[in-house]
Amino acid sequence: MAKKKNTSEFPKWNYAPAPESTSHIQLKDRYDLYIGGKWVKPLSKKYFKTINPANEKTLAQVAYANEKDVDKAVKAARKAYDEVWSKMEPSERAKYMYRIARLMQERAREFAVIESLDAGKVIRESRDVDVPLACNHFFYYAGWADKLEYAFPNRKVSPIGVAGQIIPWNFPLLMAAWKIAPALAAGNTVVLKPAETTPLTALKLAEVIHDAGLPDGVVNIVTGYGDTGAAIVNHPDVDKIAFTGSTNVGKIIQKAIAGTGKKATLELGGKSANIIMDDAPLDEAVEGIVNGIFFNQGHVCCAGSRLFVQEGVADKVIEKLKHRMDSLIVGDPLDKNTDIGAINSREQLGMIHKYIEIGRKEGATMYQSNCELPSSGYYCAPTLFTNVAQSSIIVQEEIFGPVLTIQTFRTTDEVIQKANNTPYGLAAGVWTDKGSRIFNVTTKLRAGVVWANTYNQFDPASPFGGYKESGFGREGGLHGLSAYVKQNEYGTVRSVENV
Ligand code: NAI
Ligand code: MG
Repeated sequence: MAKKKNTSEFPKWNYAPAPESTSHIQLKDRYDLYIGGKWVKPLSKKYFKTINPANEKTLAQVAYANEKDVDKAVKAARKAYDEVWSKMEPSERAKYMYRIARLMQERAREFAVIESLDAGKVIRESRDVDVPLACNHFFYYAGWADKLEYAFPNRKVSPIGVAGQIIPWNFPLLMAAWKIAPALAAGNTVVLKPAETTPLTALKLAEVIHDAGLPDGVVNIVTGYGDTGAAIVNHPDVDKIAFTGSTNVGKIIQKAIAGTGKKATLELGGKSANIIMDDAPLDEAVEGIVNGIFFNQGHVCCAGSRLFVQEGVADKVIEKLKHRMDSLIVGDPLDKNTDIGAINSREQLGMIHKYIEIGRKEGATMYQSNCELPSSGYYCAPTLFTNVAQSSIIVQEEIFGPVLTIQTFRTTDEVIQKANNTPYGLAAGVWTDKGSRIFNVTTKLRAGVVWANTYNQFDPASPFGGYKESGFGREGGLHGLSAYVKQNEYGTVRSVENV
């Protein structure tokens, strides 16, 4: 007997045939800017194309905002801040945010397919990770909107003002949610710029925001390249910059805002260590390594790109890892069986190839799975390097692709010293059977997030962010909210007891 389909279940399309159909996806040929609650043509009169990196076909033309367009967006955000959003009852703000989250859920399938088309990421990940987590960020921060006094006891909290938000291409919708949700909950208004290779889900989010009836100008989406981002950073009426992207651009932004009084959070690069101790459950650890480096084609700021394995189990782990890499399917991002999708852009593929070449020249031993790569589009086989020196370029620099380096170690002190020895400090992982070892290692690693016996786990309630050149400030949880409020202490009369 045929099984009756449960139509009330969400998401219903878990059982979609592979490859995912795109027939129901509605993309416009051309996208304008979303400013002041309207779709407006760019004053620049320019558009650029965004392509599908899996086949190099154009998906849509997108407005290229210049300084004047950014100025228009900032003015709209200021007006909305002054006249509406900062004055609104926080519980009312929350209702809008819940509405946005619900509408995103209703359109989850469309968001997931568009994300995979525009970014090259595999549909399984867009569907199960990016989109649900993005929705959850809105739900989570909606919950805080009317509880700010409890979130920051003994403080008089107020919003900061207009937030300029610049995001990268590796998690386009999720990064938009990470940025927009806490800003709105605290009463700020927003000008957000998505990355030039992946603007479509942020524009889709603008449609959702519009349909949720958010007051005009509370969220403005301006598309463009780096100069559009710089125009946001340099605009005198922007009070706060939130940036996720490369360490280089992070440094440029930090210099640009020095002395302006603008607040900033910077989420930058990483070169995270994933450490396997000799008592670890090896099969699980190897799965964790695979997830750590090959998830999202390795385009992950916290990717576990440096494996450290204790000498006694090194041969076994490397053998298992190679075996597992050989089974990974690289190809069509819309096929639900695909493990590794398309590299986000031709430039990024070039960058990864350059690092692979550097690794070979440095004398490291390379292993690549001999999977078949599609003939068009940007693809890279999963790659690992052994015999690497701590000082080598491929160990020190962020590659942002499916490339893992492997080093061995004898003692815990040695691995901690090596794990900490890069310019970055974003994340790390440790695999061991012993709780005491976890405690010892996690307290000594200089990384914003340390996972034990797991990797790449995210939750809206957990703060995320780095040390050193990985940036500063935290996103997620109360820490993420505090980045969007001004906190003034109450007078001494008011003590913790009587709040
Ligand atoms: P990027 O840092 O140039 O781009 C990120 C965002 O910043 C984009 O929206 C871009 O338009 C904008 N932007 C660029 N220049 C700007 C400026 N001067 N002022 C304001 N905004 C600006 O990153 P890109 O060039 O796409 O990637 C290069 C490398 O950066 C990658 O290979 C990877 O290593 C690293 N990267 C790291 C990310 C992370 O999450 N840690 C994300 C993206 C890239
Ligand atoms: Mg694209």
